[in-house]
Amino acid sequence: MGFIDEIERRRTFAIISHPDAGKTTLTEKLLLFGGAIQVAGAVKSNKIKKSATSDFMEIERQRGISVATSVMGFNYKDKKINILDTPGHQDFAEDTFRTLTAVDSVIIVIDVAKGVEAQTEKLAKVCRMRNTPVMVFINKLDRVGKDAFDLLDEVEQKLKIKVRPLSWPISMGPEFKGVYNIYKQELVLFKAHGKQSEEEVITFSDINDPKLDNYITPFTEQFREEIELINGVYDDFDLNTYLSAEIAPVFFGSAINNFGVKELLDCFIEIAPSPLPASTEERTIRPDEEKFSGFVFKIHANMDPKHRDRIAFLRICSGLFERNKNYLHVRHKKNLKFSSPTAFMADKKDIVEYAYPGDIVGLHDTGNFKIGDSLTSGEQLHFKGIPSFSPELFRYIENADPLKYKQLAKGIEQLMDEGVAQLFISSFNNRKIIGTVGALQFDVIQYRLEHEYGAKCRYEPIQLHKACWLECSDENQIKEFSRRKAKYMAHDKEGKLVYLSDSKYGLNLDISEYPEITFHFTSEF
Ligand code: G4P
Repeated sequence: MGFIDEIERRRTFAIISHPDAGKTTLTEKLLLFGGAIQVAGAVKSNKIKKSATSDFMEIERQRGISVATSVMGFNYKDKKINILDTPGHQDFAEDTFRTLTAVDSVIIVIDVAKGVEAQTEKLAKVCRMRNTPVMVFINKLDRVGKDAFDLLDEVEQKLKIKVRPLSWPISMGPEFKGVYNIYKQELVLFKAHGKQSEEEVITFSDINDPKLDNYITPFTEQFREEIELINGVYDDFDLNTYLSAEIAPVFFGSAINNFGVKELLDCFIEIAPSPLPASTEERTIRPDEEKFSGFVFKIHANMDPKHRDRIAFLRICSGLFERNKNYLHVRHKKNLKFSSPTAFMADKKDIVEYAYPGDIVGLHDTGNFKIGDSLTSGEQLHFKGIPSFSPELFRYIENADPLKYKQLAKGIEQLMDEGVAQLFISSFNNRKIIGTVGALQFDVIQYRLEHEYGAKCRYEPIQLHKACWLECSDENQIKEFSRRKAKYMAHDKEGKLVYLSDSKYGLNLDISEYPEITFHFTSEF
């Protein structure tokens, strides 16, 4: 197969959801379709159970699992599918944000009873920022849930994207009959815990066919009315509006029963984008360019404290990646080659000779990489769209063992490179401030500093609300602002100026008082 065909057949995406909506279950069913796993239960859940929030061994165990399930590749029909896993726990949301920078599309899973939940809203916002095409899977139709039309309205409102149902449920809960595949005009009858087989699929070119009664009584009339309503209310599905992230096609089903999943997957491989061009500060990179380029979006540390090596996950953006070939590490301006790059198939990883745009390779790293780093065939490229997001929780971090100062500094630096949290240095008192999205990270940092670096830290409270990156065409305005807010000014790890606002109210006041300054909540703008 030629280079271009290899790119065309790739689908690199992530499944996102609020915890418990069914992401892991859906992932597993997709892998079953791809023949990548043989039995249900083979994909271990990459979620940290709520009860385990202070159980460090559990966190460590989960980190181990999540290396294995970080990327799951499989072949289905003629496509190569790469699913990038995202941690369900909201304290690791930043990890998920970054993973979303490495995908070309997203499937959002929603629980039919719970509707659109908080975490889904946050993640969908990141997809909007990046114009990532999304498909929606409404799960757990075997249970009684919200009315399907109400749910569609809720998705439109909360996720701020128009929807177009491509399948439609016939009742739900104990009376659930099945889904009608609007896209293919097929009725798929529901069978709990069954493997979906061809016999359960009945094709109707006309939904007014009286034979429909044989299958979905007493819901036939209601079903016909609903389909009519859908066709009246929603425009015909238009591929381009999906690809430009204006419209999200919606499917219904029950992941645990492997129901409605095949319809989703078959449509997904047909419509989801193959690797898309990537933006760099210098220029736009097309995947079919001959020269190789890629960026690191995730770093995973080894759990064994005796081997402080890490795996850097690289998304290939253009060209062919080859084992043992020299590539330029742009930030370090030095050449590196990799003798054992790994690719991920289902829950296994293997050394690969080649990888194509859209693929993710795991690179063994001894501390060279940080998130956002570029690797190229020689060109100076800096990939855009891998921002840091404003943390929500802040604490001063202090050395608790004066003899281990160096270890602490190194540990903090490496953990920040990995993206565990963000470090700010106060311009006022030079103290180090750690910012995170979840409270769990503070415990993870303390634990890992001690177990991997032999350093001890302690935290001290600091009352802060948000970190904002400032932008203004008039340098003097920024200078004036920094002077007035001297106590709250800091620098991030790239040396960029950051304002650490202490309250929502104060921040709103600042924003109105300084209309010429833009307060950004992500580090890239
Ligand atoms: P997550 O990764 O999004 O957090 O969700 P996960 O797949 O782990 O699913 C959360 C719970 O929802 C699981 O139950 C799972 O079995 C259940 N579930 C998933 N899909 C469906 C569905 O279509 N219908 C129904 N009724 N339930 C579904 P659990 O009790 O938390 O875990 P387990 O003991 O079943 O593993």
